[in-house]
Amino acid sequence: MKIVFELNGIKQEIDCLPDSRVVDLLREELGHTGTKEACGSGECGACTILVDGVSKLSCLMLAAQLQGRSITTIEGMSSGKKLHPIQQAFVDKGAVQCGFCSPGMLMATVDFLQRNPAPDRQQIRTALSGNLCRCTGYQKIIDAVESAAAEMRDEL
Ligand code: FES
Ligand code: FES
Repeated sequence: MKIVFELNGIKQEIDCLPDSRVVDLLREELGHTGTKEACGSGECGACTILVDGVSKLSCLMLAAQLQGRSITTIEGMSSGKKLHPIQQAFVDKGAVQCGFCSPGMLMATVDFLQRNPAPDRQQIRTALSGNLCRCTGYQKIIDAVESAAAEMRDEL
């Protein structure tokens, strides 16, 4: 089937099997390998993308579900050479080690901070509980999200 959607602000029209998984479409058909797959079963959050601004697990979505939607992946997060404030906070706070969880963690954080711009640490922990990280022990990720939230509030 032919599907039409927007990917990081650019219109896409592609022919694909309607039951292709979105993570495969992004990585294998469209070359957007920033979105990661680990568990493939909705358990780890590595494949998180934004669909109309809401975080979704791309390993559990089918291509047909993208019809008419606007998708954001990690490739669309920064603006030119300038990192998004959440990305910058992850760098500044040392919240990235191997980096495999980072794209999903960042996408989930964008959605979360849109809904809760001034979270406490427990709310951050709860919000990101579906995103697993094998490296950092999470503390630096919480630090980064807290710092990004403050930075983004200051920008308003
Ligand atoms: S790869 Fe999608 S949730 Fe783990
Ligand atoms: S930084 Fe390695 S899994 Fe999170």
